[in-house]
Amino acid sequence: MKLTDIYWYLRKDIAVIEKELEQNIGTDHPVLKQASSHLLNAGGKRIRPVFVLLAGQFGRYDIEEIRHVAVPLELIHMASLVHDDVIDDADLRRGKKTIKTKWDNRVAMYTGDYMFARAVELASHCREPAVHEVLSDAMVEMCIGEVEQLRDQYIWSQHLKNYLRRIKRKTALLIAISCKLGAAAAGADAVTNRQLSLFGYRVGMAFQITDDILDFVGTEKELGKPAGGDLKQGNVTLPALYAIEKDRSLKDRIAAAVSESSTNEMGMAGVIGEIRDSGGIGFSKQMADRYLMKAKEALDPLEDIRAKHAFTQIADYIGSRKF
Ligand code: IPE
Ligand code: IPE
Ligand code: MG
Ligand code: MG
Ligand code: MG
Repeated sequence: MKLTDIYWYLRKDIAVIEKELEQNIGTDHPVLKQASSHLLNAGGKRIRPVFVLLAGQFGRYDIEEIRHVAVPLELIHMASLVHDDVIDDADLRRGKKTIKTKWDNRVAMYTGDYMFARAVELASHCREPAVHEVLSDAMVEMCIGEVEQLRDQYIWSQHLKNYLRRIKRKTALLIAISCKLGAAAAGADAVTNRQLSLFGYRVGMAFQITDDILDFVGTEKELGKPAGGDLKQGNVTLPALYAIEKDRSLKDRIAAAVSESSTNEMGMAGVIGEIRDSGGIGFSKQMADRYLMKAKEALDPLEDIRAKHAFTQIADYIGSRKF
């Protein structure tokens, strides 16, 4: 099943979100506007705002309220992508040139900041102080996650716990709060709010593990962003951790291949092949599937509404996604 098919019944409200996103990045400054529109119009899965809408359906759903949370979440996500592409030195995003490539790193830093600021501005329409606390906490955690990744760069043997903590911060928490804030904006009860947050957190873990698998097995064309970059950047993800744990001598071969990567592409291809053949992909897939199973379990106590079915379908989509 395609994501757009799952979202189909929400199309009217998604159109409201899209229009609001478009309006929000409008500014008198041409470069900021062009750069933000460039990324916005390139598309993307819009998973975070859709999660807000779906979670809202477990309460008193009102698109006029809920959009004040849904739009900032996509903006925060987009800002983090713009900055991430500077850090990861990536040329392609959503099938288009990255902002840092089409313009430059400085423009990318300010465009990301600009999007964060727009997110904060829009969220100010929410009167509930807890919303602002949750949003800013998630932004802080995301920064910590990314900085921890820098700290752990090129450390080829790491504890699994380290990896899980990092992806929780950099990815899973934002997805968890998409559910949490959607439920909160619609005044859903405390149990519903907790179960939906748990669902979002577990789906978010699976989402990043799958992203890390795709970096090894996907192609740039399928992903709309570079493949194979994680290892080259010294970003040690689950498939690599597994392979190194299984064969300690791989560590030196990876280190050598990475240090020569600019002059010897074959070396990188060789270690990437070793990681693919190690069983690391299957192991990571199993872990993602376990998170997805637990995510669906978190939905069990909730009432059987269409949004619950859609959440389940999205969880299944994440388990089999190719981009
Ligand atoms: C990419 O997120 C960054 C991660 C957290 C893995 P998405 O895969 O949701 O990116 P878009 O929004 O669809 O481009
Ligand atoms: C997710 O990690 C980064 C953010 C949370 C912004 P990645 O660096 O793997 O994301 P992609 O693969 O570039 O989308
Ligand atoms: Mg990154
Ligand atoms: Mg990246
Ligand atoms: Mg990635």
